[in-house]
Amino acid sequence: MDTVIPPTIDVHLTPADLRAAMEADVRSGLTSVPKQLPPVYFYDDRGSRLFDEITRLPEYYPTRAERSILEAHAKDIVAEAGADVLVELGAGTCDKTRVLLDAMRDSGRLGTYVPLDVSDTTLWEAATALSEEYPGLTVRAVVGDFHQHLGQLDGPGRKLFAFLGGTVGNFTSDQRAAFLDGLARTMRPGDCLLLGTDVIKDQGRLVAAYDDAAGVTAEFNRNVLHVLNRDLGADFAPDRFEHVARWNESDHRIEMWLRSLDDCRVRVADLDLEVDFAAGEEMLTELSTKFSRDALRDELEACGLAVEDSWVADDDEFVLTLARRP
Ligand code: SAH
Ligand code: TRP
Repeated sequence: MDTVIPPTIDVHLTPADLRAAMEADVRSGLTSVPKQLPPVYFYDDRGSRLFDEITRLPEYYPTRAERSILEAHAKDIVAEAGADVLVELGAGTCDKTRVLLDAMRDSGRLGTYVPLDVSDTTLWEAATALSEEYPGLTVRAVVGDFHQHLGQLDGPGRKLFAFLGGTVGNFTSDQRAAFLDGLARTMRPGDCLLLGTDVIKDQGRLVAAYDDAAGVTAEFNRNVLHVLNRDLGADFAPDRFEHVARWNESDHRIEMWLRSLDDCRVRVADLDLEVDFAAGEEMLTELSTKFSRDALRDELEACGLAVEDSWVADDDEFVLTLARRP
């Protein structure tokens, strides 16, 4: 009988690192044209809970679609990858991960799970729950930034890196190229990447997934303003900013913006910064790029990864791609 192994946590991002990065990002974002904020600041405790709610909204199909692919094919994925270490980037609540862990357990390959996320509380709760649910599993949680800390994920064993939820679509194309390149260099020969990506589809469905009727996504988007008020002493009036989700046809991506309803001056006390918003002015808060299968294959191959297989959900809604470092 396997015993429960308590999880460990490696912290590569201290509160002081996060604070320094936030100060620099917010200063540069609020003084650029158009104004913009990086998405990483959505995910404080409240933001992580709101995102979890998004994944269950009727309009938000990606989580259900990706889960259905995992449920149908986890066994094949795990057999093909042949890994006994599962590394998950931006793991969040590690919800869908259970489908992969079950398949690893059933094939006798359950060894180590390494979830990486910036959101330390959510990560720790998930890590604790998983080690109790999977006796014998070693859980080594890593608090870190997937743009900076991939190099810290090395360790023994054949690895399967999972990057789910379409999060790679939240990068600009330059960030994505740098990320995939860094990841490919972190992988050892034989290691695999399982990448979840959303697909270009009917614009109405795409926009609805990011602008739900219940307003949860709008609240998630505005959450970044609450975070800046709390952490940097800013005085945004979040309810005077409107959520905007729009399809950018030429870059095939959904963009999320916050539109100021008023002419206003926002003071960010901790940065000693004042910025003006004109009524109707929009600030960019998130991108969610959608991919064609060919474009994705080209990007993976450009950094030396070989696509071995891919699986789609019903109606081609979402794709999981398995690529290997030869
Ligand atoms: N994988 C989950 C969660 C996706 S939401 C799913 O498929 O549902 C994106 C996750 O990435 C959140 O948990 C967020 O905290 C994390 N995240 C966002 N920016 C990050 C960064 N720069 N480094 C590491 N994790 C990040
Ligand atoms: N990775 C998710 C996606 O692109 C993130 C996400 C979903 C998101 N809904 C959002 C980010 C709303 C910001 C706002 O689908």
